[in-house]
Amino acid sequence: MNPKEVTLKNGKTVLIRQAEVADAQRLLDCVKKYIPQSEYIPKLEREIVITVEQEREWIKSFLIHNNSLLLVAEYDNQVIGNIDLTGNRRKVMEHTAVIGMGMLKEWRNSGLGTALLDTAIEWARQNPVLELIWLQVYTANKAALHLYRKMGFEENGIMKSFFKHNNDYFDNLTMTMIVK
Ligand SMILES: CC(C)(COP(=O)(O)OP(=O)(O)OC[C@H]1O[C@@H](n2cnc3c(N)ncnc32)[C@H](O)[C@@H]1OP(=O)(O)O)[C@@H](O)C(=O)NCCC(=O)NCCS
Repeated sequence: MNPKEVTLKNGKTVLIRQAEVADAQRLLDCVKKYIPQSEYIPKLEREIVITVEQEREWIKSFLIHNNSLLLVAEYDNQVIGNIDLTGNRRKVMEHTAVIGMGMLKEWRNSGLGTALLDTAIEWARQNPVLELIWLQVYTANKAALHLYRKMGFEENGIMKSFFKHNNDYFDNLTMTMIVK
């Protein structure tokens, strides 16, 4: 995938490109910062225990599997967000990939999510192996839901009360898009 510059609603121009092994520390710093800032990512701060070496291996896995893609958004030499398409490793599901994405709080609602997702969908459409991409989202995550519907994802089933934060339950919606 060719790197691409995108100017966001806040007037800032960011670079969207494939992650390299050398990004491990900066990507880890970014993810460690945005997970606790995100109400709707099902991971607690104390559960982020990944080391830089493990992050390097994780980045490498996207470079060697042809149904997988990891993109970072970069601004001022900092990683500010990412999107991953993790292709399934089993033969009967290798035409599918699951999406994860996030970004630093100060960059939300600027169009960065749209730019990251649009780039990933375009790549998936060109990919000879992938036919279906999917994701899971809290139904309470209104910004994410709006974004996924806008990009054309279809709703494909809700697991009620799948997430439990203290004593509050949240529903989990699966969304899919055909990219063949
Ligand atoms: C979800 C996330 C990836 C979206 O990225 P983003 O850069 O904020 O998204 P964009 O600005 O491109 O688009 C958001 C859209 O939702 C809309 N939106 C924002 N808040 C909304 C709300 N409460 N209700 C309805 N729509 C809303 C925006 O107006 C925008 O719509 P538009 O493009 O039609 O103007 C980002 O907010 C994020 O990282 N959140 C924390 C982590 C997370 O939730 N990850 C997703 C897990 S499934």
